[in-house]
Amino acid sequence: MNVLLASSEVHPFSKTGGLADMVSALGKALARAGHEARVVTPLYRGIRERFPQMRRVDWHFDLPLGDRHVQGALWSLEMEKGLTVYFIEQPGFFDRASLYHEHNISYADNAGRFIFLSKCTAHLARYLPWRPDVVHVHDWQTALVPALLLQQQRAEEWGNPPPTCLTIHNLAYQGIFPPGAFALTNLPLEFFTLEGAEFYGHLNCLKAGIEFADGLTTVSPRYAREITTEEFGHGLDGLLRRRQKQLLGILNGVDYDEWNPAHDPFLARPYSVTRLAGKAVCKLALQQEVGLPEGRGVPLFGTISRLADQKGVDIQLAALEEMLNTQMQFVLLGSGSSAYERGYTALARRFPSQVAARVKYDEGLAHRIEAACDFYIMPSRFEPSGLNQMYSLRYGAIPIVRATGGLDDSVIDFTEDTTRANGIKFYEYSARALAKAIRKALVLYQQPGLLRQFQRRAMKTLFHWEQTVQEYLKAYELARDFRTRSLLS
Ligand code: ADP
Ligand code: GLC
Repeated sequence: MNVLLASSEVHPFSKTGGLADMVSALGKALARAGHEARVVTPLYRGIRERFPQMRRVDWHFDLPLGDRHVQGALWSLEMEKGLTVYFIEQPGFFDRASLYHEHNISYADNAGRFIFLSKCTAHLARYLPWRPDVVHVHDWQTALVPALLLQQQRAEEWGNPPPTCLTIHNLAYQGIFPPGAFALTNLPLEFFTLEGAEFYGHLNCLKAGIEFADGLTTVSPRYAREITTEEFGHGLDGLLRRRQKQLLGILNGVDYDEWNPAHDPFLARPYSVTRLAGKAVCKLALQQEVGLPEGRGVPLFGTISRLADQKGVDIQLAALEEMLNTQMQFVLLGSGSSAYERGYTALARRFPSQVAARVKYDEGLAHRIEAACDFYIMPSRFEPSGLNQMYSLRYGAIPIVRATGGLDDSVIDFTEDTTRANGIKFYEYSARALAKAIRKALVLYQQPGLLRQFQRRAMKTLFHWEQTVQEYLKAYELARDFRTRSLLS
């Protein structure tokens, strides 16, 4: 099967969160299952220098964007057999210091930037000599592609465009812009209605995707159920209920080429479930790296996160405040909202021998924290899938998670199954409930035999993409069936 993927970020080229990891792993998994995947993504600043082997494709975009035309060039890089990445070069839009914002302020022309990316994707879907069997787009940045393809079919007499599939990685980000931004799509006004891209008078890119994609998926079964409720629906639950038959929840897999403590170039010492000694070395090395007192006996907790409301930062700060009177250490790596950044740095200043906060983005440090920690805290308010808890399982850092979305689907608590327990869950969204879960972790830490059992089970909990990719292939079939039925009706 030929699959054209589109995403605003793809690891290892660009990344702000799990979206980049997921799209890159999905592309790889499709290729390794014998399919051909091609991924469309922007050529952001610095990518060409880091990947000099990429090649310029003889292709030129000259696409309408409202009342002007925007030009672009195309680069490509074959990652492995069956997986090619296409980069859209448009320096005015993508040669910038950051992907979406600077100093917490979104770029003013984000609508134009990602409508352009969507148009390039639709253009490639139609004109590449390589014909995709399905076009699979991700999140709001490329969610207008299904509408653009539909318009090409209707008005420009493109007989039979491929079916489309939209994956919602996070319903909290919808790409909502003032109504004037709709003109940039050059779509007829009939797309800007209640049953289309319009949302309380504004352009809503994700909503357009949910309306017009043939197939819909999100990144865990529980989140697929949650987003059809008012509590988690961010205003789109009614629409999602209407399209529930086309909506599948597919839990993300993990790219174990990247996340495996036995072969991780970022670690001081490799280790595995049968040879755990290296984990203690990694712990001492991290304590030294972040300036915490070195000691094997003190329980070390960690978090790596975008510092956004979604991630439960408020209850985490309050719970830590309460728990730091016990013997424990905590290390944070993250960036985002400046109030949250300040919250952690203040905590680190007040408890210098117990808390280290690194406010930055640092891939290597993320790996070293997973490897060093005894426990990994992820108290999200909501979490579509979450990848860090899966990485922490693999690295034997027992996850402490709130039972929501993909966290609930990937971690097993002692109270759910004593023989398979690999982590600690709490339910209520409160500092008190999180503090109680941390207390449970401290009790577990005092029982080395039991702790080791948890750790072993955690490290053996695997989320292989080989299985996940089969579910995506089913989603593509479902999208194709839906398309055929709607053409016939
Ligand atoms: P989300 O996509 O909502 O941010 P996920 O758990 O799915 O959450 O994925 C987050 C990804 O981003 C992980 O690969 C994580 O290691 C990485 N990450 C988040 N913050 C940082 C950071 N400050 N430095 C390095 N990696 C980070
Ligand atoms: C989003 C979600 C996260 C998920 C990731 C990849 O950023 O917040 O839960 O793991 O996408 O699907």
